[in-house]
Amino acid sequence: MPGAAPAAELSNIFAPAGAPADAIRTISLLVLAITGVIFLLVGGLLAYSCVRYRSRPGDDDREPPQVYGSNPVELAWTLVPILIVFVLITTTTRTTYEIQAAPPPPDAVHVRVIGHQWWWEFQYPDLGVVTANELHVPARVATYLTLESADVAHSFWIPRLAGKTDVIPNRRNEMWLAPWEPGTYLGQCAEYCGTQHAHMLLRVIAHSPEEFQGWVVSQRQPAATDPRVASGRQIFEATACVSCHTVHGTDASGTFGPDLTHLMSRETLGAGVAPNGTATLKAWVADPNKLKPGVLMPAMQLSEPELDQVVAYLTTLR
Ligand code: CUA
Repeated sequence: MPGAAPAAELSNIFAPAGAPADAIRTISLLVLAITGVIFLLVGGLLAYSCVRYRSRPGDDDREPPQVYGSNPVELAWTLVPILIVFVLITTTTRTTYEIQAAPPPPDAVHVRVIGHQWWWEFQYPDLGVVTANELHVPARVATYLTLESADVAHSFWIPRLAGKTDVIPNRRNEMWLAPWEPGTYLGQCAEYCGTQHAHMLLRVIAHSPEEFQGWVVSQRQPAATDPRVASGRQIFEATACVSCHTVHGTDASGTFGPDLTHLMSRETLGAGVAPNGTATLKAWVADPNKLKPGVLMPAMQLSEPELDQVVAYLTTLR
């Protein structure tokens, strides 16, 4: 399973897995190299001067030679920093422009990303798919994202694929990513957005283009209807679940929380707070606040048998 690799490896900023992140790493290394040389030079000279010109016995009554108004020295320490800043500005601007101005290729996948406290909504308007927290994309094909917020400022960041983009209320930002290889890439909200900011995790699952088509087909299926869990479905439809969640083909058409039509196709729950499975799902529905303190989903105060029936129903939503 892709989640088995350590999280640090799946979000390492120095291990780009797509074009924008690769360009960002190159420019970062250049900036680090230039500033590193400056640091060593200034730090080295400082250390050398501290040692070489430290006060010695007998120095008290004399001053070192004083230098005033040396034009060559003044010119050198004005022009050299200006040149360095000029190099940094032009290279950084060029990289930023090259990433931002890249037009979407005709086969690009378009996704509308909506940041919520504290989860991510992904809509694929051309494909008729809506999902949450786990963004599925084809590898080697560009995916263009438009980012909006339903509430406060968030920031969308998948370190191995692209730079951070702020997600701001009443504004549309854009970015793109194009993983070189299929795999799982982790990210997170990178702008403090309230109590559970740290549990607003992101996962990008890149498939081969054929596999991605298969994923789209399965996501477009209506929700499973299994007569064995009809009682759980009735309880689900009779509680306030339906005013926040959507399950296609049922009365549930809320949009405040994640679309649950294919809930069990997701690896995690609660925007990455726990792996998705019967036990964690039960704990989550029983009292989401235990797993994610401050979460906006309330406990539905279901009895134990009702809880089991609702969870049994939810686990059929593959
Ligand atoms: Cu959303 Cu931090």
